[in-house]
Amino acid sequence: MHLLIIGSGYVGLVTGACFAEMGHHVTCLDIDAVKVEKLKNGIIPIFEPSLDELVKRNVKAGRLHFTTDYPSAVKGAEVCFIAVPTPSDASGSCDLSYVFSAAEQIARHMTSYKIVVNKSTVPVGTAAAVKKHMQQFTQIPFDVVSNPEFLKEGSAISDCMKPDRIILGLDSPQATQKMKALYASFNLNHDRLLIMDVHSAEMTKYAANAMLATRISFMNELAGLCEKIGANINEVRIGIGSDSRIGYQFLYPGVGYGGSCFPKDLKALQAMARDVNYETPVINAVETINIRQKKLLAKKINSYFGKAGGLSDKTIAIWGLSFKPDTDDIREAPSLELIQELLAAGAKLRLFDPVSMHNAKNLLGDHPNLHWCTDEYDAAAGAHAIALVTEWKQFRFVDCQALMEKMQGKGFFDGRNQYKHQDMSAHGFDYFGIGVPAPSEH
Ligand SMILES: NC(=O)c1ccc[n+]([C@@H]2O[C@H](COP(=O)([O-])OP(=O)(O)OC[C@H]3O[C@@H](n4cnc5c(N)ncnc54)[C@H](O)[C@@H]3O)[C@@H](O)[C@H]2O)c1
Repeated sequence: MHLLIIGSGYVGLVTGACFAEMGHHVTCLDIDAVKVEKLKNGIIPIFEPSLDELVKRNVKAGRLHFTTDYPSAVKGAEVCFIAVPTPSDASGSCDLSYVFSAAEQIARHMTSYKIVVNKSTVPVGTAAAVKKHMQQFTQIPFDVVSNPEFLKEGSAISDCMKPDRIILGLDSPQATQKMKALYASFNLNHDRLLIMDVHSAEMTKYAANAMLATRISFMNELAGLCEKIGANINEVRIGIGSDSRIGYQFLYPGVGYGGSCFPKDLKALQAMARDVNYETPVINAVETINIRQKKLLAKKINSYFGKAGGLSDKTIAIWGLSFKPDTDDIREAPSLELIQELLAAGAKLRLFDPVSMHNAKNLLGDHPNLHWCTDEYDAAAGAHAIALVTEWKQFRFVDCQALMEKMQGKGFFDGRNQYKHQDMSAHGFDYFGIGVPAPSEH
C-alpha cells in the first residue's frame, strides 16, 4: 500500500520505517525542513535503538521517502497517518492545532478517497472534529480512523513490529477493510486487532497512560511512607508484584514520571473531565504526587548538605538526563527539575547522559555552574555527591572505589533504587534511595 505519515518524530518515523519494513511504500512528511534534509542524507534526528539501520535499509530498498511537500505526498497516498504533536495548551487542554493543520493539508490536496488515521494522542471527539474541519476544504469522500499509538521510546521498533494490541476506532466498512489489510502483516502470530467505536479508541490511549502513571505515583506515595515508618519499598514491591493480579511491571518508585506523554495526557484527561463537570480525584492525586516526587531528590540533597554549609560551594554529579533510559528525549524529564533546584541553591553540577547531552545542552544553554562530562566517572570527579536520575544500564555496575577516589565527598542519591543500601554503605557512601531506610532501621 502507499502510505503517508505526517510528522517524522518518535512516533511518525518509527511507524513509517516499520510499515516500510513490512513491504509498504511509505512517505514520511514533516514541516521541519532541516529534519527532512537530515533524513534524506541518512542522518536520524532522534536516538532510538535499531531505528538507524531500519531507516537506512528501507530507504535503500526504495520503500521509504522523506518530504516536506504536501501536495505530491497526499496525492500518492491511500492512507494518511497523522503523527504530530498534541501538547498541553495554557489551560492544560490538548492543543489540537497541529492535528487540524495536518488534516487541512490532506483535505486541500486530496484528489481521491483517503483514509485519515489519527495516531497522535487526542481527546475523545477529535476524529469527528477532524472530519468536520476537513469537510470545509474538500467535497471528496474520506474516512477518519482513530489508531492510538502505544510504542515506548527506547523499545519503539519492537513495540511497533510486535504490538501487544492494535486499537482501531472506526465506523466505516470501507476503512475497516483497508485497515485490516494494512495491519495483516503484523498479525501473523496472532490477531492483535481490537476494533471498537471511535470514542472508545481515543479514550483507551488516555486510560492506558493514566493507569501506568497511577501505578508510579502509588508506589512513590508508598515509598515516602516506607521511609518514614522503616519499611523498604524494594521488598514491598516484590511482595506485591508476586501477586498475579498486580504483577511486577511499572511498580518502580523513583523521581517521578516525565516524558512527552504522561504529564500532558493526564492534564488532557483532567481537562476533558472539567469540560463535562466530572471530578477526577484519582487522576488529580496522581499528578499531585508526581509534582512532589520530582522535587524529592533536590530536597534530600539540600537537607544532607544543610548541615554542611549548604550547596553554594558544593559540586553534584548528575547521572542521567533523559526522562528514561534508551532515549535522548528530555521532555519533562525529572533531571531538569533537579538541575533547576540545585542551580538555584548555588551548586555546581557535573552532568552526564549516554545519549541526551545534545538535547540537554540545547535546552539549558551555557551556565557557569553546568559542566558537561564524558562519562559517569568524569562526572564524579571532584563531586561532593552523586545523584542518579536515569537508570541507564551502564550505571548498574560501577567501580565504587574508583568513584570514591575521584570524589570530594561521599553522598550518593539513588533516584532509581539501583543499588543496595548495605553495599553502598560498605563502600563508604552516605547512601539515600527512594523509600529505603538505613540498614539499622530494619
Ligand atoms: N513519543 C512517544 O513515545 C509517543 C507514544 C505514543 C503516542 N505518542 C503521541 O504521538 C504524537 C506525536 O508524538 P511524538 O513524540 O512523535 O512527537 P515529536 O515531537 O517527536 O514529532 C512530531 C513531528 O511532527 C512534526 N509536525 C508538526 N506539525 C506538523 C504538520 N502540520 N505537518 C507535518 N509535520 C508536523 C514536527 O516537526 C515533529 O517532527 C503525540 O500526540 C504523542 O502524544 C507519542
